[in-house]
Amino acid sequence: MSDVKILAIETSCDETAAAVVKNGKEILSDVVHTQIPVHTLYGGVVPEIASRNHIEKIDAVISKALSDAGETFDSIDAIAVTRGPGLVGALLVGVAEAKAISFATGKPLIGVHHIDGHISACYIENDLKPPFFCLVVSGGHTTLLKVEDYGEYRHLAGSVDDAAGEAFDKVARSLGLGYPGGPKVQKAAEDGDSGAYTLPQPKVSGGYDFSFSGLKTAVLNTINAVKMRGEEISVPDMAASFQQTVIYTLMGHCFAAIGDECLPFALCGGVAANGPLREAFRSECEKRGMPFFTPSIHYCTDNAAMIGVAAYHMFKKGDFAELDLNATPSLPFAG
Ligand code: KG4
Ligand code: ZN
Repeated sequence: MSDVKILAIETSCDETAAAVVKNGKEILSDVVHTQIPVHTLYGGVVPEIASRNHIEKIDAVISKALSDAGETFDSIDAIAVTRGPGLVGALLVGVAEAKAISFATGKPLIGVHHIDGHISACYIENDLKPPFFCLVVSGGHTTLLKVEDYGEYRHLAGSVDDAAGEAFDKVARSLGLGYPGGPKVQKAAEDGDSGAYTLPQPKVSGGYDFSFSGLKTAVLNTINAVKMRGEEISVPDMAASFQQTVIYTLMGHCFAAIGDECLPFALCGGVAANGPLREAFRSECEKRGMPFFTPSIHYCTDNAAMIGVAAYHMFKKGDFAELDLNATPSLPFAG
């Protein structure tokens, strides 16, 4: 097959992103406009503001992605877009834009699942090929999969309630650390003692599924109990204790689910940007002789390059969308 260049668009939450990806591997351009400063004022993502901001920025972000890559609408082979899951208004901006470009240029349209994108980020800087185990930890998902082939997943375990990233964000808020929670908890934890507060490692009966809602409640209860005693919570100690409990829980469940099978292991999604989490998985994989992969921090959090990589494997299968493609906020994941 001759070279395939895909223009990819991602607007599922609070980043307006576009990229041009060649042959599912070479990132010709990668533009991310983050809305963090806008939402910081409100302590979290405000969906309506996110949608408006995407509308304001999307054309400039796409133009920059094309010009950085030295490409034009004429020279690309397909347009890919995140079709779900995410905030409906935010997704719709990207989907409408991609459909308009596809209609105007006659180039095929590819609708990508956001989690397929996060998993595909593992292919960007690494020489990783299926099969491998993959833990996706983001603001909306905590899922352990066996990646059997490109875009083909076998589900091994998942969260029954809050995703790991959601727990980081909620705990950050209850500690007064604000938004975005994950990086702030990690920073605060640097000066903390992870053994200072004993938090439960949430259990789910049967299987290897995760639960983070109980852990978040345990943090809240501990904060309240400390306050009731007229004492002050140590934010660094609580951040470190919480972070360590999340790491132990994820590691315990993942390696129990994997058992003795020795395959490469990949860690991805926004929470995979967490330094101590990356190091814990790296070192356990080393002990087990499992090659360990994780995208660089930029490709852990939301970006369009990962959508372009996922779309390439769909392009090869002829998995195209029609112009009636819609945004699906709670799009189920096949894995
Ligand atoms: O993948 P992502 O950018 O968006 C979703 O698909 O959800 O993930 C965002 C999540 C947020 O919950 C954020 O707090 C978390 O990733 N996150 C982190 C870190 N950086 C981002 N969590 C822990 N430590 C970090 N350094
Ligand atoms: Zn994401």
